Formats: sequence, structure tokens, C-alpha cells
Amino acid sequence: MLVKSKRGWELPESMATPEDVYLRRREFAKMAAAGPILAAAASPLLAGAASAADDPTMDLYPAPTSDRYELDRQITEESVTTTYNNFFEFGSHKQISKAAQKMETRPWTVKIDGMVEQEMEVGIDDLIRKMTLEERLYRHRCVEAWSIAVPWTGFPLAKLVELAKPLSGAKYVHMITAMDEKSMTGLRQVWYPWPYVEGLTIEEATNEMAFMVTGAYGKPVLPQNGAPLRLAVPWKYGFKSVKSIVRFHFTDERPLTFWAKTGPAEYGFWANVNPNVPHPRWSQAQERFKTADGDIMMPTQLYNGYGEFVADLYSGLEDEPLYM
Ligand code: MTE
Repeated sequence: MLVKSKRGWELPESMATPEDVYLRRREFAKMAAAGPILAAAASPLLAGAASAADDPTMDLYPAPTSDRYELDRQITEESVTTTYNNFFEFGSHKQISKAAQKMETRPWTVKIDGMVEQEMEVGIDDLIRKMTLEERLYRHRCVEAWSIAVPWTGFPLAKLVELAKPLSGAKYVHMITAMDEKSMTGLRQVWYPWPYVEGLTIEEATNEMAFMVTGAYGKPVLPQNGAPLRLAVPWKYGFKSVKSIVRFHFTDERPLTFWAKTGPAEYGFWANVNPNVPHPRWSQAQERFKTADGDIMMPTQLYNGYGEFVADLYSGLEDEPLYM
């Protein structure tokens, strides 16, 4: 999704195939033969816990794991998920994890405004403590055709919508990322339309799969993955899963999102995963699943494999560009 140009009318450059990409067909075949793997047992859930030890909500982790959302693959090692990131506020490359440590995630206030019964501001720790945390094992498919599988901890976005009490006319919720000029040196890329904005319809936001992430790998989520609060909507391309959210804005207007503004011919509002609809510059049929031992090529699935939970959201919307 890199935009190499400083001029807004130029589109993101085509994806280069990273040198470390290789096919490990034999291992994949073995995994596929083994059938669905409830991979929690293989997960280093508590690895690296010390780095999050001073988080005020540390006592809430690890949360019980839901068995409703099974993985068909191993969990990506924490060492990979926390060092290979997209977080353009810290730069347009994947090695932002060190820079992201400078982002201060406390105090952190979340604003809920727009078409709601009563606008409010709530401290992140108060918000998290109002919720019941659970762990969910979710796949994550980036539009750039790489993927990971992560044990996220958090709560359903539906619970935040319930707290917000949107008015009946509200059709969308916009979610907006912090703009911390001090730590986020990527904000100096002035050709991007900051702040990072994403959004969902209210129906999507209240779907059971839409998940607010507060933790990962059994402890509070790290800055590079979107601390202290990020979205996970795994049936959509990864750019919808907005990080480090400071504002939820309820409205009757569809958001003009960060990527839709940056590359309107390539990135849209819906962005549902579909292997049969190629990106204008590359195929979406397969993905490079990331592990500590290298990437494994896997076929991409419609709605990233979550159709049973979300396909109904889109009936009657066939004329919409649902897959970009
Ligand atoms: N949120 C913000 N604020 N800024 C970003 O650059 N990148 C998106 C999404 N959320 C992004 C963001 C993209 S393209 C992806 S694939 C995921 O974050 C990556 O999440 P991860 O780094 O935790 O794997």
C-alpha cells in the first residue's frame, strides 16, 4: 500500500515480492492434512509479558479464550506479529515497532460523539473495565496479500455501540486514530490525508465478529499493533482494522476513509476479502501466511473464511463495490 510519491494524485506503487518469500508446500500440505488446529496450545501466550507489566489493566490478562472462532492454521509467532507491521503514522514500511514504543498510551481518552444519545469522553482504563474481556483467535488478511493469525484479547464492538446509544438515524460509525506529532514521525508524510479514519455500517459494527482489541498474546496489546484500542474485522482487508483509536463518531454519512482518499481507484469502503476479485495491480487469490520460519503460501478464502458469520450483512448490496 506504499505511496512512494509525494503527490496525492499518484497511486500506491505495485507490490514488490519480498526476497524472503518462498513456498513451503510440503509443510502446508501437512498442516492441511492435520485439519483445523485450535492453536492456542502452540501459542506463546505469555511470551514477552514483562514489556506490558506496567499497564494499568494487566490484571485482566490473560482472558478466557472463546472456542467459537477456530483457526485453520497455526498462530503466527508473537515475534513476527510485533515486528512486521503496517502503521503509517510511524512510517511507510514494516519496521516501525521500535519507533512506536515512543507513543504514550496513557493517559488515553476515547471520545464518543455525533448521533448518540449523549456524547461522552471515557478514559481507556474505565472503558476496558466496563467490558468483559475474552481472547479470540482471528486470521488477519492484509490487502497486500500477506496474512497472520493472532490471539487478540478484547470485547465486541457491539458492546461499545450499546454504551454509545446511537440515535436511530445513525448509519455508520467512524473510527479515528490518534495524531501524536511527537512520536508519530510518519505524520510528516504530508501527502497522506491524516488522520487515519476508518468506518463500518452500524450493522457491521454490531456483527458479533467486529472486535475491539485491547490485548494480544495474553497481555495488553503493544503500541505497534495499535495500543491501547484497535479494531479487528477479520473478514475485511487489514486496512479496515484501524489502530490506536481516540474517537468513535456516529453519523448518517459514509466515511471517506484514509485509503479511499489516498487511492480511490484501489481502496474502497467495504473492502471485504475476496480471492476472485483482484486488486487492480495484483491477484488476491493467495496469501503469504507469515511465521517465524518464513512465509507459507495459502489460498485466500471469501470473507477470509468468515462467511458463515458475515455474508448475510451484504445481501441486497450486490451493486456496491463490496470487495475493494
Ligand atoms: N491503522 C492506522 N492508524 N494506521 C495504519 O497505517 N494500517 C492498517 C491497519 N490499521 C494502519 C492501521 C493495515 S494496512 C494493516 S494490514 C493492519 O493495520 C496491520 O496491523 P498489524 O501491524 O497489527 O499487523
